[in-house]
Amino acid sequence: MRRFTSVHDLINGPGLDVAIHDALEFARHPWINTEIGRRRTVGLLFMNPSLRTRMSTQKAATLMGAETIVLNAGSDSWTLETRDGVVMDGSSTEHIKEAAAVMGAYCDVLGLRTFASLTDRDADYAEDVLEKFITHAGVPVVSLESATRHPLQSFADLITIEQFKPTPRPKVVLTWAPHPKALPQAVANSFIEWMSAANVDLVVTHPKGYELAPEFVSGVAVTNDQDEALAGADFVYAKNWSSYEQYGQILSQDRSWTVTEDKMSLTNNAKFMHCLPVRRNMIVTDGVIDGPNSIVIPQAANRVVSAQTALYYLLKGPA
Ligand code: CP
Repeated sequence: MRRFTSVHDLINGPGLDVAIHDALEFARHPWINTEIGRRRTVGLLFMNPSLRTRMSTQKAATLMGAETIVLNAGSDSWTLETRDGVVMDGSSTEHIKEAAAVMGAYCDVLGLRTFASLTDRDADYAEDVLEKFITHAGVPVVSLESATRHPLQSFADLITIEQFKPTPRPKVVLTWAPHPKALPQAVANSFIEWMSAANVDLVVTHPKGYELAPEFVSGVAVTNDQDEALAGADFVYAKNWSSYEQYGQILSQDRSWTVTEDKMSLTNNAKFMHCLPVRRNMIVTDGVIDGPNSIVIPQAANRVVSAQTALYYLLKGPA
């Protein structure tokens, strides 16, 4: 596999069922394959902050026997320019073209985190920055979250659902929840894409105005009635996103969409999930996230498993 940027890389590579099987094997036996990364280097470039992604990917590389080099663009490396053809007379010091190529000369696999601008929808949805990085890296690339997707998160989410599901085909609800800042649609898009490829009944619920990009929700059950969506759910996945239509805008902070104990009582004793970091008592009440049905910590722990599985395929090379 040459890139891990969406579920399609697994579907067109080892196959999603094989990947889930391998991931569950890594979850049970983390040190099962320490040779594949020996004498190899994984470079991780962060253009945005991270706790889980940077630690879990570093841990995953360690489990595979690989070294890691981690850079935060703009603080411990140069500020990067990502636009083409510009006169670089501003604050950016190095173009992503050279940065990617140089990192590719030092490393066997590269990772990039680059959030959506939330100002230029066309560039964000073309994955302009990630695609430039892949073009110039010259080595396999893993997305550490891009403008429209967060595949390592979604893969961890799917692994977690596989581990906790009470029936072979659980009902999974993705619900919008309020947040004080404008957030990208990447986690929601990506979760929908992965769940659509998995053996689950997916329902997405959000207030009017928060419709997601058609390429992600085509054929997916979507409702503006959160209570109706939650009825009988086995998993409740809460996430905020900003508007796609009024790109990057906050249209509502309606607290009636916060996931509360009353909301969870509508479900089939559902497990609560969130990618973290989470705004307590905005997205979800303390009672729910601290309660017995919250699986946010095992979900976050599975970020090591998803990263380990993705790195395994990237280090292994073409199937
Ligand atoms: N869920 C997630 O990607 O967390 P970080 O932003 O801390 O990496």
